[in-house]
Amino acid sequence: MFLASTEFAQKTDEAFWWITGIMMFFLVGITFTMIYFVWKYGRKKHPKASQIHGNTKLEITWIVIPTLIVLFMFWKGYEGFALMRRVPPGAMEIEVEARQWAWSFHYPKADITTTELYVPAGVPVKLLLTTPIDDVIHSFYLPEFRVKEDCVPGMVNHLWFQGDEKHIEGSPYPIFCAEYCGTDHSRMYTSVHFLSKEDFAAWMEKEVAQRYRPIEIDAAMDPSSPDIVESGAADLYATYCVSCHGKGGEGGMVEGARSFQSLADWKRGPSIPDMFVTLTEGLEGTQMRSFANLSAWDRFALAWHVAGLYEGTDRPNGERADFERVIKQYELDVQQDIPRPLDIEGTIEEMVEPADG
Ligand code: CUA
Repeated sequence: MFLASTEFAQKTDEAFWWITGIMMFFLVGITFTMIYFVWKYGRKKHPKASQIHGNTKLEITWIVIPTLIVLFMFWKGYEGFALMRRVPPGAMEIEVEARQWAWSFHYPKADITTTELYVPAGVPVKLLLTTPIDDVIHSFYLPEFRVKEDCVPGMVNHLWFQGDEKHIEGSPYPIFCAEYCGTDHSRMYTSVHFLSKEDFAAWMEKEVAQRYRPIEIDAAMDPSSPDIVESGAADLYATYCVSCHGKGGEGGMVEGARSFQSLADWKRGPSIPDMFVTLTEGLEGTQMRSFANLSAWDRFALAWHVAGLYEGTDRPNGERADFERVIKQYELDVQQDIPRPLDIEGTIEEMVEPADG
């Protein structure tokens, strides 16, 4: 990771080393000059101070030279900055949401959400970075490309990068949160995977199909079924639930957020199908919003994860009839409509064309 593998990284490192070099030169130069002056003009040799008045040549020199040096350092920094701010037209857009303490990535065209970033190599990628309004400032940092941008509540910032062949080989690369954001700041990391265009299209198609496949009741009722396990409910919980309900489901991180460690006073019932309904519709009059943007499988998986936070064995997770009722109510047993047309190849063509060189 130390060696610069991209143009961004080269520019950033160049600016860094130029500035460091110039500073080292002056640090050493000034320190030795001072020591020399102490020796040469010390009290022993010059018991009486002599006064000097004005020296135009010297004054011009020490104004002009530092000005040139500062301008040079600015230019070195600006080169990389300009490259980073100029997003090539037609870059592929991905929405990034940072929250305490997880990342999620939303691909608007395919309408899928992931907790790790997958991007095609050879295509510029533009990230639209944000944080929910009730969260804190985070910072998206991809060290391999030396790109970093703050995620600020209520704002959409952006950055872009582009990987190539060698990044497919080197994948995945780490992504960090570079802004101290609370207890688990240090664990707020994820990865970016670079795929060939074909693999990316295949990956996306699989994700989409996966997201909308019909619910099978036996799998939905079984927390150890692969469908439930592979939904990555722990990540979803970390992304969507922790900030209000707490890591262990103890609740109360915001006012009114219930504890999942108790069976008392559920507004809707605590069973899996009941939680599914709550996740789908939210709870009116509370801060619990709808998570219908998650796939039905993800909502079941999330409900099972929440159920798992209760430590007793007397939890009513729902009877088969309850699952049947909900599946029927939301017509979950048929392939669900994919909300937006999915033109993956078109998208990639579009993404590739305008990028220059
Ligand atoms: Cu998010 Cu540090």
